[in-house]
Amino acid sequence: MNRFLVRSVLINARSYCSSSFSNGYTYRAVATVRPGLETVRQQSGNSFAGFEWRRMMSSAAPEKDMEEEKTEEKEKKEAVVSYWGISRPKITREDGTEWPWNCFMPWETYKSNVSIDLTKHHVPKSFADKFAYRTVKILRIPTDIFFQRRYGCRAMMLETVAAVPGMVGGMLLHLKSLRRFQHSGGWIKALLEEAENERMHLMTMVELVKPKWYERLLVLTVQGVFFNAFFVLYMLSPKLAHRIVGYLEEEAIHSYTEYLKDIDSGKIENVPAPAIAIDYWRLPKDATLKDVITVIRADEAHHRDVNHFASDIQFQGKELREAPAPLGYR
Ligand SMILES: [Fe+2]
Ligand SMILES: [Fe+2]
Repeated sequence: MNRFLVRSVLINARSYCSSSFSNGYTYRAVATVRPGLETVRQQSGNSFAGFEWRRMMSSAAPEKDMEEEKTEEKEKKEAVVSYWGISRPKITREDGTEWPWNCFMPWETYKSNVSIDLTKHHVPKSFADKFAYRTVKILRIPTDIFFQRRYGCRAMMLETVAAVPGMVGGMLLHLKSLRRFQHSGGWIKALLEEAENERMHLMTMVELVKPKWYERLLVLTVQGVFFNAFFVLYMLSPKLAHRIVGYLEEEAIHSYTEYLKDIDSGKIENVPAPAIAIDYWRLPKDATLKDVITVIRADEAHHRDVNHFASDIQFQGKELREAPAPLGYR
């Protein structure tokens, strides 16, 4: 019975909130839900509680009951009762359909610039450049041996690593900004956006390839090692850290190019694009895996440029904040 009463209160509270009151009023309306429950328990003569009571006493068909229970479960999931009254307005696409994602919003989506030069390469000149280049080439050997031409699996696994440097760099620049009372020149945001973009690559790839238990174990191990190693490296030499990421991105472009070759040759089926990818990159509804890999590769090219640029700034003896962070480079 309490379950139905809860539902009743929620429905009433929600309809109360969804009317055209201001945010302040919404907060108050939702915040009264909990005390309201107690009141309802005590005052079963209340009109809406009475309605639910009558419904409980009726002899509805079992299917209807099941349907109601499902709706109830759905509503419970949708309406997380919160003492704090935090709620999100309904978000829709341009065509009026409901926005299905909580992990990114319509204003965070974009059309990828696929015209970016994919062949650009930073020729290693200094000792640090050569060290960075060699390190990445050496890291590629076990990756090639483990994955060979299983590019779906390879991409999924490598994206779990690719999303780490932006987060570490952004976090350390954030702390530096706090310590020194200095602006960051937009670099904190740029690097965190890169991390988020990489994470969206992962969220897309995981729709296409389901990781096996030993791959999940490998991700755990690699993340533990890589996060800490990159953290220490960024503390010691951010210019080397960014250079390494620049070269890692060059390798990512190469891997995605090989992935596209296998799609073109039919070795990998050109399946329809996952719904998340269509919304995130504003792809046409009939987009395919090939379109998705093409835009991901373009993103990697942007990361390559941003990271080599960040490294170049520091090789010139300047700090990142002295050169404004590039805009629109995810
Ligand atoms: Fe990526
Ligand atoms: Fe990347």
